[in-house]
Amino acid sequence: MSQLIDGKKISQQIKDELKEEVQRLKDNGKNACLAVVQVGTDPASTVYVNNKKKACAYIGIESRAYELPEETTEEELVALVERLNMDDTVNGILVQLPLPVHIDADRIIRTISPDKDVDGFHPVSVGRLWIGEKGFLSCTPAGIIQLLKRSGIGIEGKECVVIGRSNIVGKPMAALLLRENGTVTVAHSRTKDLKEVAKRADILIVAIGKKKFITSEYVKEGAVVIDVGMHRDEKNHLCGDVDFDNVEPHTSAITPVPGGVGPMTIAMLMDNCVETMRTQEERS
Ligand code: GUN
Repeated sequence: MSQLIDGKKISQQIKDELKEEVQRLKDNGKNACLAVVQVGTDPASTVYVNNKKKACAYIGIESRAYELPEETTEEELVALVERLNMDDTVNGILVQLPLPVHIDADRIIRTISPDKDVDGFHPVSVGRLWIGEKGFLSCTPAGIIQLLKRSGIGIEGKECVVIGRSNIVGKPMAALLLRENGTVTVAHSRTKDLKEVAKRADILIVAIGKKKFITSEYVKEGAVVIDVGMHRDEKNHLCGDVDFDNVEPHTSAITPVPGGVGPMTIAMLMDNCVETMRTQEERS
């Protein structure tokens, strides 16, 4: 029987732990406020942003919403981020992506102070991760490490194959698995013999953005499979990059979609926000 990795339950555990920690930190006079910036009214972004605000309320930290019109210029957005960087009452800054095409998202990410970069997207945060320095971790890969650890799945010495090399998931995922002493391969759309490479994995992390792409032909018997994808299938049901029904019987553990990796991203964003409070405590 394969173990179903329950991201909903594990993310709830993490939020409950954070809620307690926030109370203790608040009792010691520390505070956290997350600025959540959305440009335009993309419906998916609105759902994500609302969930982030709700999670803040749940764990007991303040969130401040900045809802800007689609026509906002890059200069105006840069000015807002610079203002939030200077604002001592704001500890974390999140600019929801994607941004409208007339705004250079990389420039905006670079404008956020690395000390407030709770998404972990700033090049300084990325550099800190790769050299093993303390810093904000990209939320989805950090959530996957928690899913594995809290499901009793060891990483040290394991063959880990990450399919996908995005800056938000694939690359930081590789860095985190390496930090946990995994042996890491990053595969991607140009990888030769992808099936053979994927089959080496004890832990296979799939973030390729292609609906139900991974079948049992890509999976070693008894592997752990983590699915980062999120799509709608023919019946309009949510599904991942992994063909779950086909792959699950061959795994020792697997994440479902929905209810696997998805809920972990916000839990780890909250952890990054609480980290700003822990830092205040260390410095006091
Ligand atoms: N859009 C989709 N996921 C994310 C995320 O984790 N952070 C931000 N800022 N935007 C996103």
